[in-house]
Amino acid sequence: MRHTFTSSMLFLFVCCLVNAQSPTFDQLAPTPPMGWNSWNKFGCKVSETLIKEMADAMVATGMKEAGYEYIVIDDCWQVSRDSVGNIVPDSAHFPNGMKALADYIHSKGLKFGVYSCAGSRTCQGRPGSRGYQFQDARQYAEWGVDYLKYDWCSNEGQNARAAYQTMSDALKACGRPIVLSICEWGENEPWKWGKGIGHLWRITPDIRDCFDCTFNWGGVGVLQILDKAVEVADAAGPGHWNDLEMLEIGNGNQTETEYRSHMAIWCMMAAPLMAGNDLRTMSTADRDILCNPEALAINQDSLGHSGFKYMTLNNVDILVRALSNGDVAFLFLNRANEPTALDYDWNANTVYHHTLEKGRFYVAKEPRILVDVWGKQKNGTTKKPIKTVLEPHEGLFFRVKKNDKPAL
Ligand code: GLA
Repeated sequence: MRHTFTSSMLFLFVCCLVNAQSPTFDQLAPTPPMGWNSWNKFGCKVSETLIKEMADAMVATGMKEAGYEYIVIDDCWQVSRDSVGNIVPDSAHFPNGMKALADYIHSKGLKFGVYSCAGSRTCQGRPGSRGYQFQDARQYAEWGVDYLKYDWCSNEGQNARAAYQTMSDALKACGRPIVLSICEWGENEPWKWGKGIGHLWRITPDIRDCFDCTFNWGGVGVLQILDKAVEVADAAGPGHWNDLEMLEIGNGNQTETEYRSHMAIWCMMAAPLMAGNDLRTMSTADRDILCNPEALAINQDSLGHSGFKYMTLNNVDILVRALSNGDVAFLFLNRANEPTALDYDWNANTVYHHTLEKGRFYVAKEPRILVDVWGKQKNGTTKKPIKTVLEPHEGLFFRVKKNDKPAL
């Protein structure tokens, strides 16, 4: 009896230990994942040296300290399969192989991600995972992969939900916790079925480094992504996120004002934050946008509600996001290409306390303190209306504090 009791306790203890060390699949993304991905800036020009330098830069620039953790190699690291079907990395560009690279990234306290595709070929014509899902997942686990971005080119008419389910099952069986980033561009409404299969899902075609643009072949800008995110906002929650795409901040084609709004939108909509610029050479201004602690606290808020569109005044979208401690985030975003006047009376319109029930707000009677996320305005309160002119694509980004009342 005693023996059985002791062995049961021992078993429980070991289970707890294992549990404490490895989160289950469902526990992998309680807040939106943060990291860096090679695609937006480097395309197919990826190598071991580049990825290691990016890991070094993530630490040196303070991004790691701010919360960024995944270093993800996108397409083009893979070249073929060997005689038994194992995926073969490009040895010219990754001479020491993937395990050595994963070890290096882990030695910096960061996590390692790779890319593959549910189709037979990746979008750049490299071998995809169709037919090899379990073999690939086991290989990723052996290398020490922590994150898989899984694309949808050459899908040969498969059912998307089933295809992503197969890779999800393979990852769940591979013996290592691996985040699954579903990348089928929103074509099959993954916000309706992605929860439990993956941790994040793309909702649009690929982002381009522009604020307001649509390309014939499918590339879209920041505003176009925002409009889709507003439509599907309710699907986001702890462990399962709408992926608004990798960031373009720092890639040079938008103004600093636009990059700030880009960041603010991703934070308001509880989107994963995967930087897509060259971390080695980024300007202080771009770094400060990516690492702004107030913005990141809103993005990573534990309640995990996405913001929603509260109203549009002239061309100014007003987005509101309920936060876990009863604070509320506001973004006043000028969609227009020209300066736009904003006259917003908090007391006439606003809703700035919330109940924990999603989407239910009530009006606070007394004024509250405003924290200006970008730090321009000090000591703001909701006592006075906002009367200002917003620059083209400018966003005023605030946290309204539930418990901080201004002095009378
Ligand atoms: C697709 C994806 C992109 C990128 C490329 C790589 O277009 O949507 O994010 O991964 O493939 O080829």
